[in-house]
Amino acid sequence: MTLLGTDLPLVGAPMAGGTTTVDLAAAVTGAGGIGLLAAGYRTPEDLAAQVAALRERTDAVGVNLFVPSDERPDVAEVRAYAERLRPEADALGVTLTDPPLVDDDHWDAKVDLLVSDPVPFVSLTFGLPPAADVRRLQQAGTRVLATVTTADEAREAEELGVDGLVVQGPSAGGHSATFDPRRTIEDVPTADVVRAVGAATRLPLVAAGGVAGPADVRALLEAGVEAVQVGTLLLRSDESGAGPTHREALTDPRFTETVVTHAFTGRPARALRNAFADRHGATAPVGYPAVHHLTRELRATAARQGDAEHVHLWAGTGYRHAPTGPAADVVRALSRDL
Ligand SMILES: Cc1cc2nc3c(=O)[nH]c(=O)nc-3n(C[C@H](O)[C@H](O)[C@H](O)COP(=O)(O)O)c2cc1C
Repeated sequence: MTLLGTDLPLVGAPMAGGTTTVDLAAAVTGAGGIGLLAAGYRTPEDLAAQVAALRERTDAVGVNLFVPSDERPDVAEVRAYAERLRPEADALGVTLTDPPLVDDDHWDAKVDLLVSDPVPFVSLTFGLPPAADVRRLQQAGTRVLATVTTADEAREAEELGVDGLVVQGPSAGGHSATFDPRRTIEDVPTADVVRAVGAATRLPLVAAGGVAGPADVRALLEAGVEAVQVGTLLLRSDESGAGPTHREALTDPRFTETVVTHAFTGRPARALRNAFADRHGATAPVGYPAVHHLTRELRATAARQGDAEHVHLWAGTGYRHAPTGPAADVVRALSRDL
C-alpha cells in the first residue's frame, strides 16, 4: 500500500490565494493523481464548503494547512518597510495600515474541523505543529504529510510522527516551506534534496519543485519518491484560479527569470522577477505574516489594474512550460513515459 494510493504518481499542489479551485483538485484527481485543496488564507467555513464540494466528486480529498509560527517580526522594521512602500502604494491609490503581527490562519478551528469531518490526507507547510494536533488528525483516520526542505527538517518531522513527507526543492514556485524563513534558499536541484532526505528518513516521500515536463517527473521518481507534486505547470490550466495578471505574466517576454524573495510576504517565495522584487528584495524584513498583510492590498490592487510589476507572480523554474487547456491533460502529459 502506497501513501497516497493513486493510479498515477502525481499530486496537484495545494496553491493558496485562490489558485487551487475545487475544479482544479477534482480534475487532477479525476485524471488519476490527487489534487490537494489549499486551506491557507481561507476561513474554516470556506474550507468546510470546499471539502464538501470536492467530496461530491471524489473520496480522495486532501487539504493543505499553513502551520502558524509564534515568531514576531521587528515592528520598527515593518514600519520602516511601510514607509519605503508608500510611494508605490500612493501611486496605486492604496493606504497602507499597520498589519497584524501574528495570525494563526485559524489553525485550531481548521484542525477541529478536519478532526470532526476527516479527510484522507492533510499536508502541512511552514513548519511543524504540536505533536498532539498531528495525533488528533491521525486518530481521525487522516494521513499527515509534512513539507520539508532539508534532511534536518525531515528528521524532525519523522520524530514528530508524521506519515510521509513532501520534499520541496528550491526551484518550487510560491512560498518555501522552510522551517527557518531567515535561511538562504540555496539553488540546488530538487532531486539532490530528495536524495539527502531519503538518506535521513524511511518515511514515504513526495517531491515538489521545478517540474517542467515528464523527464523531471521520471528523474524525481528515480531519486526515490512515490509521487511528484506539481504547481506551476497547472497555473494556466482551465481550472486554475490564477488571475489574468498572473497568467499573462507567465508568458510575457518581459519576465525572463524567477527569484526567491521575501519582499512580498516576509517569507521566502519563488516568483517571476519584477520591479517590486528588484526594489525590495534586498531590504524587506523577514516577518510572515505581518509583511503579507502589509503588502496585501497593494498587491491585490496592482493585480486588478493589470500591473504585474507590483504583484507576487509565484512561479517555479519550469514556468515557461505551463500550458493552457484542461488540467487533466497536464497530468496525462507528465505521466506519459512512466
Ligand atoms: C501559486 C502557488 C501557490 C502555492 N501555495 C501553496 C500552499 O498554499 N501550500 C503549500 O504547501 N504549497 C504551496 N505552493 C507550493 C507547492 O506546494 C509546490 O511546492 C510547488 O508548486 C512545486 O513546485 P513547482 O511550482 O515548480 O511545480 C504554492 C505554489 C504556487 C506556484
